[in-house]
Amino acid sequence: MDGRHVIMAEVDHYEVCYTINPWMRPEQWQQGEGGSRAVARRQWSALAERLRAAGMVVVTVPAAVGQPDLVFTANSAVVLDGRALPARFRHRERRGEEAHFRRFFEELVDRGLLSEVGRLPDGIFQEGAGDCIWDASRGLFWAGHGPRSSAAALSEIGAFFHREVVGLKLATDRYYHLDTCFLPLSGGEVLYYPPAFSPAARTAIAKRVPRDKLIAASAEEAAAFSLNAVNIGRDLIMAAPPPRLRARLEGLGYHCIPVELSSFVLSGGAAFCMTLRLDLKGSPP
Ligand code: ARG
Repeated sequence: MDGRHVIMAEVDHYEVCYTINPWMRPEQWQQGEGGSRAVARRQWSALAERLRAAGMVVVTVPAAVGQPDLVFTANSAVVLDGRALPARFRHRERRGEEAHFRRFFEELVDRGLLSEVGRLPDGIFQEGAGDCIWDASRGLFWAGHGPRSSAAALSEIGAFFHREVVGLKLATDRYYHLDTCFLPLSGGEVLYYPPAFSPAARTAIAKRVPRDKLIAASAEEAAAFSLNAVNIGRDLIMAAPPPRLRARLEGLGYHCIPVELSSFVLSGGAAFCMTLRLDLKGSPP
């Protein structure tokens, strides 16, 4: 597979029309009076543009009627070394995405962009990379569970990828997916929002990340969805980083690339959620 591919989903049927997380604002979406999707489309294109400028090839999955949250492709699967483990969604509202994405991933096998598509057993919930983040510096997965993914998913992920999976129990519905409150960076630092985690999860993080690499975000920074960022080398593509966070990250040698994603924050998602990386490698290249 040549190039660094990332999946984004077409926004044709994107809308905020139900509430399955505390950030979702259907009333506000409706007040956009038909203009909301046009704004979303512009923001989506700006994100795709930033990804391309950072060296990624954007592969798009078609939209599907009645599946507005499909734009959050991070939730569709966990992918490493070209192998995909498709998600099982907790909420009925998103379950229709499962078959749609499975067909798409199978097509990606035919196109040579994936080598294998696995299957999680029935009765287990696992919401893809949104709740299972590859930490290349440590060679392990960090996996969130509680609000969306089941704790039982951890061993399934470990068995499929043959990698260590560190479970992190999420303590609040407000930070319902791990990618809303946890961001491992290419230099080995981990940016996280401590109140989003159970005490045991905080201990697990402290055990594996040295203190000088652990960066605690403020409530304001977490609420801006700044932790929901895409890190490509030293580039960090993120929704409106508050100035203090931006200065801290730039001080560490990262290049913050802001992108306006307010239409998606209305649904509880931002840059990381809207992307699924196909280029992550566990084994040495
Ligand atoms: N409205 C979507 C949901 O509640 C947002 C998903 C955001 N995705 C993420 N990876 N955090 O499922």
